Amino acid sequence: MGGRFAGKVALVTGAARGMGRSHALGFAREGADVVINDVCREIPSAPIPMGRRDELENLADEIRQMGVRALPIIADVSKGSEVKDMVEKAVNTFGRIDILVNNAGIASVAKVVDMSEEMWDMVINVNLKGAFLCSKYVAPFMIKNRYGRIINISSTEGLVGTPGMAHYVASKHGLIGLTKVLAQELAPYWITVNAVCPGDVGTAAFHMYSKAYPGFAEEISRLQGAYSLFPGYEDFEKPLLEPQDITNVVLWLASDEARYITGTAIVVDGGFTSK
Ligand SMILES: NC(=O)c1ccc[n+]([C@@H]2O[C@H](COP(=O)([O-])OP(=O)(O)OC[C@H]3O[C@@H](n4cnc5c(N)ncnc54)[C@H](O)[C@@H]3O)[C@@H](O)[C@H]2O)c1
Repeated sequence: MGGRFAGKVALVTGAARGMGRSHALGFAREGADVVINDVCREIPSAPIPMGRRDELENLADEIRQMGVRALPIIADVSKGSEVKDMVEKAVNTFGRIDILVNNAGIASVAKVVDMSEEMWDMVINVNLKGAFLCSKYVAPFMIKNRYGRIINISSTEGLVGTPGMAHYVASKHGLIGLTKVLAQELAPYWITVNAVCPGDVGTAAFHMYSKAYPGFAEEISRLQGAYSLFPGYEDFEKPLLEPQDITNVVLWLASDEARYITGTAIVVDGGFTSK
């Protein structure tokens, strides 16, 4: 099968649904074999349900129907031993990992004075430690091949701060720091490392979080102004961006066209953070 990623292997974390699913399908459509990961179990103190096993398996079937290989792996990216086993299984099956998309993410809402230690740890561990662990265990195989692409899914919350989301904001700022350091450590091996910072994207999770915290989006909009420079964004139920808007940038960063782009954070937010 031809395509920009023919012969490549991509690992996408948090792929059972939402943007991760979209990225995985995007890589498969363009010829990559894809390792799709999700936690597929409930995480204590997470305000919404996590991706499910049947969603991950259905995605694997959809990918295989495109004529490429799919390997679903259930693992919690915040647990070192599970990440190590996942990477070993992926390399034993496909022989290599060329592209890693650290997409798995989680959020909740509480002001710092009301935030439990458990809630802080949950968000930092999945969003930031998870990307550290996946990079740590995948990078040695990329180093061996003198080739790799690591793409960390940060957020506009990696650039600005929203009240009620200190843990999430710290994790997404931290991801940009991790990106900069990894880019320097891995450039000698022709591995690029970049972050992508989406604004609000209308995934099912976005709507679940909106329901879990009624009025939160409106409150933030009041504090920060509209989320986009484009018209029609005042409807909180329907964010401007779709998963494919982010997938397009993720695929481009993973492509040869972006071979000398490293250590950057690319913002896809309809202009929100320009204000
Ligand atoms: N939706 C948005 O508006 C938005 C905006 C900016 C950034 N982001 C980021 O984009 C990424 C994807 O967001 P989404 O809207 O598609 O969310 P989502 O909840 O639909 O997808 C995230 C997936 O990650 C999985 N996951 C959670 N914890 C995990 C763990 N420990 N190990 C493995 N998988 C785990 C979940 O089960 C879920 O399937 C996240 O990192 C999120 O923070 C989202």
